[in-house]
Amino acid sequence: MQVGEYIVPYLKNAWYAASWEQDLGAAPVAVTMLDEPIVLFRDTGGKVNALQDTCPHRFAPLSRGQVRGDVIVCGYHGLEFAGNGLCVRNPHGKGVIPNALHIRTYPVAHHCGMIWVWMGRPDRADPALLPSFPDLAGDRFTWVHGQLDVAANYELIIDNLLDLSHVEFLHPFLASPGNSERTRYRAEQRGDQVSAYYDVENEPISGLFQLLWTGDAQVANLIAYMHWQAPTNLSLDNGMSTSAVVGEDDPRVQVIHLLTPQSEGKTRYFWAAGRNCAHGNDQISQMLRFGTQNAFENEDEPMIQAVRSRMHSNDLFAHKPALIATDEAGVRARRVLARLIAEEQAGELEARRARDVLEA
Ligand code: FES
Ligand SMILES: [Fe+2]
Repeated sequence: MQVGEYIVPYLKNAWYAASWEQDLGAAPVAVTMLDEPIVLFRDTGGKVNALQDTCPHRFAPLSRGQVRGDVIVCGYHGLEFAGNGLCVRNPHGKGVIPNALHIRTYPVAHHCGMIWVWMGRPDRADPALLPSFPDLAGDRFTWVHGQLDVAANYELIIDNLLDLSHVEFLHPFLASPGNSERTRYRAEQRGDQVSAYYDVENEPISGLFQLLWTGDAQVANLIAYMHWQAPTNLSLDNGMSTSAVVGEDDPRVQVIHLLTPQSEGKTRYFWAAGRNCAHGNDQISQMLRFGTQNAFENEDEPMIQAVRSRMHSNDLFAHKPALIATDEAGVRARRVLARLIAEEQAGELEARRARDVLEA
């Protein structure tokens, strides 16, 4: 999409997932988010700092350095930077610290076991804008986590997740043959959130739910409800029940999907899968971890990449896709995202013009 002189592939004023808390230890970690190289490191209190991963001296990646106490030491000539981006020690000569020795910092939030980085204007960073995953923060579910890198644009992954009609064909472990014909589908948009609802009656117990199923019934009612929160976070609520309505106490599996664009053609995909039963069963945890990672890595990812290979750009609508009913949620999400990005860019353009007028 183009607005004025801008090419805009991302919504900048948003929180993006950077690392599972448990995966960030004492060493600095390099991440790329929205084309920007960022280094994450913990201070002695456990708080995470996010700095531009480029030393202002000779541009060494700070992630090649070391964390010492509350500072990160550049691995090239040893300048030291605090979490607020200011150089606090120059080990050379008289130790003079020029004003230019500071680095851009990014607002960080700790939320639901994930470290989030705000990629837009720092004065707009608002914890109230963090995505909401009540069960990921609570203890009703037992969770396993993972991540993978996908060589495709993040919007193709949102398309994939908001259209679960692919499950029968791409994930045989997760749906029985003929599932699509039996499924009632409904898409819904509330403000900037989009949901896709799949309901099936008298469905054979899928491979996934056989792991959690304790009754004798061979069929049950199935729900799969996918919710998208702009720009890139989704949650899937999955459940089976012999009752007419799948309730809170029936076996449920939730899958959280957090997508962080690394560049226009690469996405870091964090996932968490939680169950509300079989707590403390390590074997089921391992099977869920393996099964979820395997489905995304070996079934979705190759298909999404193959789809991208047949497109000449990431602009889906420019390709005039032949849309069917189950595309509704994905199409709605693309439209919401395009509007949010256009509004953000128009605001930036206006602010820049106002600045130019003031400075002229
Ligand atoms: S490049 Fe970092 S101290 Fe020289
Ligand atoms: Fe899938």
